[in-house]
Amino acid sequence: MKQSKIIAGNLKANLTPELMASYLAKLESSKKLYENHQIIIFPNQACLSKNCFSFELGAQNAYPAKSGSFTGEIGLELLSSLDIKTILLGHSERRSLLKETNELILEKFKFFKNENFKIILCIGEDSNTKDIRAFLHSQLEGINLDYKDCILAYEPIFAIGSKASATLEHIQKVCSILKELGAKKILYGGSVSLDNAKDIISLVDGLLIGRASLDVDEFMQIIKLL
Ligand code: PGA
Repeated sequence: MKQSKIIAGNLKANLTPELMASYLAKLESSKKLYENHQIIIFPNQACLSKNCFSFELGAQNAYPAKSGSFTGEIGLELLSSLDIKTILLGHSERRSLLKETNELILEKFKFFKNENFKIILCIGEDSNTKDIRAFLHSQLEGINLDYKDCILAYEPIFAIGSKASATLEHIQKVCSILKELGAKKILYGGSVSLDNAKDIISLVDGLLIGRASLDVDEFMQIIKLL
């Protein structure tokens, strides 16, 4: 039997509630396709719905609070009401566009760990990082990598939303650094496509896919390859 992998789709600020509902229904109707894998979909927060499928729904972000005066954010109460127990933290777009710091990400990590969430923590260097190991180490400061539901998503910034993924050699090299730093499970993200998914997945525990997950048929074609 093929090894079970995690294949996650990050839909960012795309689709509408109606489009998302048909996306999820189509994926659900093809559940045989991924019976050996774990699929996680991160819809835009306005398109979140009950986590009641053969795959998991997760939140792209949330504020580390039950509820309250946090304009534009969602909190634990809302996620719990939808039975959502999976969260993506530290995506480079939140770090760069919304100025999320390692400190805030750590606070979120601790909060959602305490609530037994599965946490996919995104880290990754950009192309002018001189000491990749030291940089990744700094992004992981205070993070409990022994937490059983902590999964790292290695997403080099230069590969996100770009023309090409990182090379297989680079992914392999960084994964071994991350393992030395204590990572247990590692996903790769950054320009994963139908063309490169099969090669990349042989090096990691799974994939975090942006653009190539926006179209459910393309996403399912990738799953079929693995
Ligand atoms: P991409 O995005 O696959 O479009 O490069 C990946 C991500 O940002 O998670």
